Amino acid sequence: MAVRAAVLPAIGAPLEITGIELPDPGPGRVRVRLAAAGVCHSDLSLSDGTMRVPVPAVLGHEGAGTVVSVGEGVEHLAPGDQVVLNWAPSCGSCHTCSLGEVWLCANALGGAAEVYARTTDGRDLHPGLNVAAFAEETVVPASCALPLPDGIPLTDAALLGCAVLTGYGAVHHSARVLPGETVAVFGAGGVGLAALQAARIAGASTIVAVDVSPAKEELARAAGATEYVVASAEPAQTAREIRALTGKQGVDVAVECVGRAVTIRTAWESTRRGGRTTVVGIGGKDQQVTFNALELFHWGRTLSGCVYGNSDPAKDLPVLADHVRAGRLDLTALVTDRIGLEDIPAAFDDMLAGRGGRAVVTF
Ligand SMILES: NC(=O)c1ccc[n+]([C@@H]2O[C@H](COP(=O)([O-])OP(=O)(O)OC[C@H]3O[C@@H](n4cnc5c(N)ncnc54)[C@H](O)[C@@H]3O)[C@@H](O)[C@H]2O)c1
Ligand SMILES: [Zn+2]
Ligand SMILES: [Zn+2]
Repeated sequence: MAVRAAVLPAIGAPLEITGIELPDPGPGRVRVRLAAAGVCHSDLSLSDGTMRVPVPAVLGHEGAGTVVSVGEGVEHLAPGDQVVLNWAPSCGSCHTCSLGEVWLCANALGGAAEVYARTTDGRDLHPGLNVAAFAEETVVPASCALPLPDGIPLTDAALLGCAVLTGYGAVHHSARVLPGETVAVFGAGGVGLAALQAARIAGASTIVAVDVSPAKEELARAAGATEYVVASAEPAQTAREIRALTGKQGVDVAVECVGRAVTIRTAWESTRRGGRTTVVGIGGKDQQVTFNALELFHWGRTLSGCVYGNSDPAKDLPVLADHVRAGRLDLTALVTDRIGLEDIPAAFDDMLAGRGGRAVVTF
């Protein structure tokens, strides 16, 4: 039976809403009926070629739903189970997995090259970042379907799959924010808003949200920002404003959730001597960031990349669920639009215009 999906036919082409046919799940795979799928900026970057996966593809990598059927050998899941989709399953045996850095698994995105489904008119389809969540149903490796802890509605749980694991992990695993530290989060989209909530949970004192769009202030403050800075056209001015909010020292930690050279550089400049900057945003190869050798010495700062929040999704989901149930992490507040598959292009436009928090496709 065909299901509806948003298909990216080619890099840069408009999404096509069409029927797709999924095979029965083979060994080690599960079929999932999606309840919701968040629209992440990485989907936009995959569709415009800033990031690349084989096409035609069904994008969407932040989803939650219910298991419909399981293939041979799948023991930890059964039909009816509620799951969160994990777009970066770890193999457990590569070099980085053996070091415990499962978010850097060398084999995590191997599935993108596989044909997992076909359009009803016979075109082979790849699963984007493994999970192909922009569809009413998907078939994924069982390692991509993590049991959803109790007490979280499926429609909110989708956000755990990327924005929240990433934003929370950037603060807790990568930057390791300590109580009382000062934090600046650049970019108040789905990921940045999750990072702001994570900074609040970590007990940060001053939490500065920075965005080009003045329209994000209310959302940012609701997520925990104590200060809001509208990014200036002059990056040095933005860094000066942030430093002024922290006794001229600069923040202990900056978390960059935009993916542009200018924001990476400004984030770094807005930290104190010895401060830490975690870069979550994903930009293209044209985004060159420069540092001179003398300033690297003088400021003694750390700049780190961050993949999927440096999270181990299977271990982190229960922790996030505890925060949600205790009211510390508010998933509902991150969702600003409930949309249909056909509205994904409009959600991309909103992102580019700096509108909204997270748009979530509800099925
Ligand atoms: N590292 C990872 O594993 C990972 C995971 C998920 C998302 N990402 C990346 O994180 C970034 C954020 O994702 P999102 O879904 O929250 O995006 P989004 O588009 O919803 O939010 C980005 C925000 O940045 C703001 N912005 C744009 N230019 C700016 C500037 N010059 N200064 C300050 N703010 C600016 C926008 O107004 C917007 O509010 C993207 O680059 C995405 O690809 C990375
Ligand atoms: Zn994402
Ligand atoms: Zn691995």
